[in-house]
Amino acid sequence: MQQLFDIYFVSSNKHKYQEVKKILNTFGIEIGFFKTELEEIQSNSLKDIAKKKAKDAFSKCKKPLIIEDDGLFIDSLSGFPGPYSSYVFQTIGNVGILNLLKNNRKAKFESIITFCDKKNLQSFNAKISGTISKSLKGKGWGYDPIFTPINSSKTFAELKNKNQLSHRYKALKKFSKWYLDRQESNDL
Ligand code: IMP
Repeated sequence: MQQLFDIYFVSSNKHKYQEVKKILNTFGIEIGFFKTELEEIQSNSLKDIAKKKAKDAFSKCKKPLIIEDDGLFIDSLSGFPGPYSSYVFQTIGNVGILNLLKNNRKAKFESIITFCDKKNLQSFNAKISGTISKSLKGKGWGYDPIFTPINSSKTFAELKNKNQLSHRYKALKKFSKWYLDRQESNDL
């Protein structure tokens, strides 16, 4: 029989779900996976994209849920690909990004986690600074083989403790505090 959860992560990306599940478990939150493609609007604002995604997710899942929207912002490209990170990954990919960069390799990864239920639509964001590596390093999903977080010499793909320091970890930490406080005061 299918297990029921108080809250679901809605996404088509199983890598994200695996990380979200592990991170939320460390905060004592069990989460189910509702796998579906979500509508992603074109916008310069990750927050607007995330809110729209969360509403679309709620219309499909009909249970309390979170969704995530991420962006990789590269300084020397004036923040590109930012909200277009998914499209850029699918088109030019990691090698295409490496070919665009010269000396200034500074970048940031941003995560927005948006919670949605019948009465709440609440977003939590976090960023991690870092650099884009000079070549592909390690085996990982998405931009993991080219993003080296600050204070590290390894890319996300090479790190064992990505889930204890990533943009996703930081945003989920903020969300967990809010969610657990609300649950405790029976406000959800
Ligand atoms: P999305 O639009 O939120 O799915 O994410 C934008 C792009 O960033 C997608 O290509 C994701 O695969 C990629 N991405 C998001 N988070 C991570 C991460 O933690 N590591 C590597 N790539 C990521």
